[in-house]
Amino acid sequence: MKAVVLNGVTPAKQVILSEAEIPKVRPGWVLVKVRAFGMNHSEQILRLHEIEADYIEKPIIPGIECVGEIADASDSSFSMGQKVAALMGGMGRSFNGSYAEYALLPAHHVFPVQTGLSWKEFAAVPETYFTAWGSLFECLGLKPSDTLLVRGGTCALGYAAIQIAKALGCRVIATTHRQEKLPLLAGVDEAVLDNGKLEGELHGATKALELVGPKTLADTLRCMEKGGIVCNTGILGGVYTLNGFDPIKFIPNGVYLTGFNSNWPTQQVMDDIFAFIDRNKLKPCIGASYGFGDIREACLALDGGKVNGKIVVEVVG
Ligand SMILES: NC(=O)c1ccc[n+]([C@@H]2O[C@H](COP(=O)([O-])OP(=O)(O)OC[C@H]3O[C@@H](n4cnc5c(N)ncnc54)[C@H](OP(=O)(O)O)[C@@H]3O)[C@@H](O)[C@H]2O)c1
Repeated sequence: MKAVVLNGVTPAKQVILSEAEIPKVRPGWVLVKVRAFGMNHSEQILRLHEIEADYIEKPIIPGIECVGEIADASDSSFSMGQKVAALMGGMGRSFNGSYAEYALLPAHHVFPVQTGLSWKEFAAVPETYFTAWGSLFECLGLKPSDTLLVRGGTCALGYAAIQIAKALGCRVIATTHRQEKLPLLAGVDEAVLDNGKLEGELHGATKALELVGPKTLADTLRCMEKGGIVCNTGILGGVYTLNGFDPIKFIPNGVYLTGFNSNWPTQQVMDDIFAFIDRNKLKPCIGASYGFGDIREACLALDGGKVNGKIVVEVVG
């Protein structure tokens, strides 16, 4: 099969397709024929830095998510040809991932999905919508009566969260740090240019999805109404941790702070997401798509950070 096989730090312009063995199934694992996959920041981080870490066994095929069909069900209850999505749980890090024609994946991280979406649209969903869904419902307990602030709205995750919250009936405020991107937030109730300090500028936010991350988190907490909840899910601002975190001063009285990690998808949540997409006729927000033969261009687009929406690669047209 064709696959991206990484042995060390690999800038996008050096990414190539190689020949690799189709993996052999073993108990507890299923073989998935990859039809398409979405691309993610964490794959860029793996390719450019993390691959040097001792815990990454090399060579490694990257890719933390994919959609496709069961090619060998092994000892699982899947059937041959069944439509599935797979994501996270060590995919593309602890074991080979989705930048390949076939992926051998732990059966418990592969989810049967019923959807009328095309392979390309389907591939834009798993990681991005699972993360948006978990942040909005598990962490923020989002209700139609909420006003949701999405800080860092112009990213694939931001667009997905906005889409879900609007479909639910929420009032949505979203920010971008670029004036020229304000039109991309045309679907929200209030699009705001983010200069790093929004305290006192925004009103009525009861829930907030923080995608810029620790860089703006203190300010986001101070934008909330009493009883408001902030979920830190993104790190677009490039600051990963809060050093000298003083909870008494950092978190305003009566405001709540939580965070989301997409490592533990479940069948129930995947079913809920696809039913919601279907019921509300949502079109996943795809920023750019590539054929597998153009994987280098797809990686260049990911590293360039200029695509508005999810980057999707179709392995089989
Ligand atoms: N917690 C989890 O489990 C989880 C899961 C998935 C993703 N994430 C995180 O969520 C964030 C969004 O992921 P994604 O896949 O949706 O990203 P993405 O679509 O690749 O978005 C990247 C783009 O966001 C834009 N952006 C918007 N606001 C920004 C800001 N304040 N600072 C810097 N860039 C900003 C940048 O473009 P411009 O600079 O041109 O605006 C950048 O090109 C990332 O930080 C990702 O690591 C977390």
